[in-house]
Amino acid sequence: MAKRTVKDLDVNGKKVLVRVDFNVPRQDGVITDDNRIQMALPTIKYLVENNAKVVLFSHLGKVKTEEDKAKNNLECAAVRLQELLPDTKVTFCPETRGATLENAVAALKDGEILVVQNTRYEPGESKNDPELGKYWASLGDVFVEDAFGSVHRAHASTVGIPTNLKENGIGFLVEREVTMLGKAVDNPVHPFVAIIGGSKVSSKIDVIDNLLKKADKVIIGGGMAYTFSAAQGGKIGDSLVEEDKIDLAKEYLEKAGDKLVLPVDNVIADAFSEDANTKYADAGEIPDGWQGLDIGPKTVELFKQTLAGAKTVVWNGPMGVFEMKKFAKGTEEICKAISELPDAITVIGGGDSAAAAKQLGYADKFSHVSTGGGASLEYMEGKTLPGIAIISDKD
Ligand code: 3PG
Repeated sequence: MAKRTVKDLDVNGKKVLVRVDFNVPRQDGVITDDNRIQMALPTIKYLVENNAKVVLFSHLGKVKTEEDKAKNNLECAAVRLQELLPDTKVTFCPETRGATLENAVAALKDGEILVVQNTRYEPGESKNDPELGKYWASLGDVFVEDAFGSVHRAHASTVGIPTNLKENGIGFLVEREVTMLGKAVDNPVHPFVAIIGGSKVSSKIDVIDNLLKKADKVIIGGGMAYTFSAAQGGKIGDSLVEEDKIDLAKEYLEKAGDKLVLPVDNVIADAFSEDANTKYADAGEIPDGWQGLDIGPKTVELFKQTLAGAKTVVWNGPMGVFEMKKFAKGTEEICKAISELPDAITVIGGGDSAAAAKQLGYADKFSHVSTGGGASLEYMEGKTLPGIAIISDKD
């Protein structure tokens, strides 16, 4: 059943509470990538243009101590939003409850924006404390869920507010994410090729499971491939391996047959360092004292052949240690190959692969780059996302 969207709601003159995901990376307090703020703009602008009084909620980082609070003050996001919307009044409220917040909401005029302090300043946020969700809901008339990056969290701001505010809907960002991830994972045009990388099998077990059911081919790259190589009885030298996942990898190899495509060679190094000595080695032939840090040229060719003709591609996780230039080539070649596929729906499932595509300059060549890390992973695992499930269905 489709969810109500912001367009189905009467927002004119209303106090509209919006959960956005302004959990942006920062260096010494300065935002280094404002993509998540930019991606929230369509919903925010729509609400401003339709005379809503807009109240934005977001978390920023993890908050456990007073020191964490000081490090994760959300004011930097409000400042950035004001720069992006110079003709709209954006105010920041340093409190998450009480008279200061209530007065700031009451003072809002139609078409103005209030950014509330980091929701994780409240200890009840991550526990979805019912009192907190009810209190925040009492501040508004309508709720819009537009924090795709956080919809896998059942927190007070993502689930508690809409539990108490039935006038609710999803924003344009969540709508686009669900449409694109749905097109790729749930209703793919075949051939459908999934590429799973990253360091650990353990963090991708459910994704591999779900995609093996849906895709025509599942390519495995990155650090997790060495656990598969070990499961085949290969020599992996000092490469990353999860001993306790070798049996599981064996199981996948047996049940998936040639649906699973593994690296045939690697770039190996004598240290985990940009200055290491490197050479190529066939998969399963890595000597002791050496570790695999990227896929090799024969693997790049094999993966390109596997991708050729695909009509849907989902990619999650880099092929090697792309943060170091010496070991970025495999990820770059695969990123390029996916982005050049004619007539294919190409989706990056957030996290490290989105960062890699951006760093390598290919992000705008994909059909969709998810803003969610954990959220898109859980979507690809086939899990229900509580922040979306709670939203009212269309009439
Ligand atoms: C993310 O960056 O993936 C989201 O903002 C969620 O953050 P969290 O993992 O701290 O809940």
